[in-house]
Amino acid sequence: MVGEPLARSAHRRTLSSQFTTSTYPGGPRNNIRHNNSSFSPLPPLTHRRRYLAISSLLILAIIFILKTSAGAPFHRITSVYSKPNLEDQVSSCGKLTTPTRTTIYGTDTVYIPGPTQTVTVQDNALIQPHPSKAVVFILIMWSKTSAIEGALLVKSILMYNTSPSEFHIICDDEAENYLRSRFALVHRPRQHILIRFYKPSWQSMLDRIEREGTIQTDHSAGLPGLMKLFIHEIVPVEKGIYIDTDAFFISDPTLLWNIFETLKPSTAVVMSSHPDQNSPEWNNASRICSCVMLLDLEKLRNLRLMDSSIYQADSTHRFPSALGPEAFRAMYGLPGGDGRGRYDNVRLGDQGYWWAIVSHRPDIFEPLSYDFEVTSCLLNTYNIGLGNDDTDESEELSRQSFLIDTPQEGIVVLPKLLHFNCLHGTDVYMNWEGWSHPDNILAQRWGAALKYHEGYKWIWLNNGGGSSMQMEATSVVFADEHFASEISL
Ligand SMILES: *[C@@H]1O[C@H](CO)[C@@H](O)[C@H](O)[C@H]1NC(C)=O
Repeated sequence: MVGEPLARSAHRRTLSSQFTTSTYPGGPRNNIRHNNSSFSPLPPLTHRRRYLAISSLLILAIIFILKTSAGAPFHRITSVYSKPNLEDQVSSCGKLTTPTRTTIYGTDTVYIPGPTQTVTVQDNALIQPHPSKAVVFILIMWSKTSAIEGALLVKSILMYNTSPSEFHIICDDEAENYLRSRFALVHRPRQHILIRFYKPSWQSMLDRIEREGTIQTDHSAGLPGLMKLFIHEIVPVEKGIYIDTDAFFISDPTLLWNIFETLKPSTAVVMSSHPDQNSPEWNNASRICSCVMLLDLEKLRNLRLMDSSIYQADSTHRFPSALGPEAFRAMYGLPGGDGRGRYDNVRLGDQGYWWAIVSHRPDIFEPLSYDFEVTSCLLNTYNIGLGNDDTDESEELSRQSFLIDTPQEGIVVLPKLLHFNCLHGTDVYMNWEGWSHPDNILAQRWGAALKYHEGYKWIWLNNGGGSSMQMEATSVVFADEHFASEISL
């Protein structure tokens, strides 16, 4: 209901902005011509009469056109920039339901429903098409239970995102089917939504780990969890936000996305950092959390984050050797102890490897504000939760815990993304038995928030009109396999 008037108002904005232009006929351009003619020698009398007659006819014609154009502004309307939706071209499902997207400089992207319409814009406004303004999420969901959690995360994104959303979801059939059952309820979203399912086979993931040669997992998330180290090899986007499934937003995800703009040029990985945490049993890997990550995937590809037997076999040496092996060696020694086995001393699955990477290369790392990872795991959601709505910031800060000796010491945590990890005894954190215990402190803090977001109906997301939703599925080819096919050319 909102999208159509929005699209129209964008039209109107564009047209009205043309009123302010100084280059319409009758303006300075014609004056210049008059001035010029006054400098030229006077033509003979007959020529002057013919000139006056033609001029009068022209003026009459112009007045006639102005009157019959029903009040429309008569402006020098020149080129039109209209380009088909980029995603349409890479659609793998062949269902091109997205209406033509016309990019207009200085306004939002407009999705025009129905047959293609021509949008006219001022020529001086056509500088460059806007880059895609979508917030890009990369999620991994393996099994239905993981998708049940992840669907709540996705729903919260759609509830709050003020930008279009892109979801790149690495998943199996069960997870895809569950998510599709929820997406099917949304047909009039407020913002454009793109969903792409990436479907690696179990064997293809095993093979990639095999080609890496040194890593293995000790973690319950197992093999799919290790794929967090290979996102840059699976998802062909420039950058994205990775979030574990056991989390949901309580504010606009665009705020998290905007952090990319604030990063140092060398930064490729952003995650929350807790230098105050000591965990000798985990080699201190709990000082980071690979649960919420801003990933510059293009940089990680250029760094060749993870090694492969295919890269090792490339004798041209045109590319730097992979970053992973040297980082893992620096922290954990030789794989298997003698360099011939696999690491058996790395804890917390992928996080142990990320910890080695960002410890070895602090130049590519920046800490994430805890606002975006309010975690129930060990850190007790920093002792914050729903409560008195008139609490001021200094009072809130005085109560918060686990901020001393961290990058956020003295800075109040204003929760935007809640992360319910370490709730044991259940596959789905929403079913954790603690939620039903009135005395449970986590339930007191956040139980109502969970209940609201869980119970929020997908059909309530149907509050737009002109925006569309596009779903695709694709198989997975890892970057090292692409590389193999390139070098054999
Ligand atoms: C963990 O951190 C502590 C305190 O900084 C340090 O003494 C210890 O060597 C670290 N352990 C590992 C395995 O890095």
